[in-house]
Amino acid sequence: MEKSIFNPELLSGKVAFITGGSNGGMLQDIAKIFLLHSAKGVVLVARKKEKLQKVVDQLTPFAAKGSECIGLTADVRDTESVHEAVSQTLEKFGTIDILVNGAAGNFLCPADMLSLKGFKTVLDIDSGGTFNASKEVFSQAFKQQRSGVIINITANLHYGGTPMMIHAGSAKAAVDATTKHLAVEWGPYGVRVMGLCPGFIDGTEGMARLSDMDSIGDKKKAAQSREKGVKTDDAMTDLVPLGRLGSGEDIAKGALYLASDASSYLTGSILMVDGGATLTCPNFVMHSPKFVEMYAAPRKAKI
Ligand code: COA
Repeated sequence: MEKSIFNPELLSGKVAFITGGSNGGMLQDIAKIFLLHSAKGVVLVARKKEKLQKVVDQLTPFAAKGSECIGLTADVRDTESVHEAVSQTLEKFGTIDILVNGAAGNFLCPADMLSLKGFKTVLDIDSGGTFNASKEVFSQAFKQQRSGVIINITANLHYGGTPMMIHAGSAKAAVDATTKHLAVEWGPYGVRVMGLCPGFIDGTEGMARLSDMDSIGDKKKAAQSREKGVKTDDAMTDLVPLGRLGSGEDIAKGALYLASDASSYLTGSILMVDGGATLTCPNFVMHSPKFVEMYAAPRKAKI
């Protein structure tokens, strides 16, 4: 990251608890910007210990003096393991000030091919996980502290009924509702709750998975999408009013703003960090000519 426009001590003394991030991507960038801005502790919480440790090792050199990054294993779907991770964080750092609900799952699958288990799995991770972590952090820390910030990473999928993502769109719609409900319930405790909605972010697992039309409905192929990478074409970039894809750093700067007192009068709202893409391309798979061809096929077949 180039020289930050934010005060390097913006998060001095603060502790952040971030769910997800073992795949790197924007959650790693959020952790990094928090460390660079003097957060006392950044705790990444994910299921797979080895993958998580690699990310923690990559982040450690960015920790400002007196800052520390650690990883804790937990499954956000499992209340007990989330409870334990929150307790361990409080034992180590004494406080939690910022919660980023980032753990999520997504893949391309038409609704009529999706099993109920597949639908529920994503709801459990995204919405259930957001509920579990928010409840635990509030009950064990924010409620007594009378302060705290929750940042729910959301998506724009449900704004336009994005095809092949009924699972993630429904899950993120619930996350957005959760943002509003908790902002109202926990405002009197000094807790601010906000959504952060990324657009097309370059280099993320999400972009790789959701741009890979060969992976539709196929768990194995979806798992390989990341290695294949994303072939960004001009047509896609041209749809974004600001004329470029986003970077993890763009998202991280939004998260830093929300986490800090710079956003002291924000709660219950969703910060769009998408270069305006939601205005021009709310149905993001439509940028793929291959998808548009598939989409039109049933109607054409009738003729
Ligand atoms: N297409 C269709 N169904 C799929 C699928 C895909 N690509 N991936 C998973 N499912 C279904 C499974 O088939 C299973 O249902 P079934 O038993 O009825 O067939 C159900 O979802 C649960 O799958 P499972 O692999 O056991 O769940 P999991 O908890 O291990 O992981 C995800 C599920 C969604 C989290 C997995 O895809 C994943 O690990 N993703 C990486 C994180 C990610 O998606 N990041 C991007 C966020 S934008």
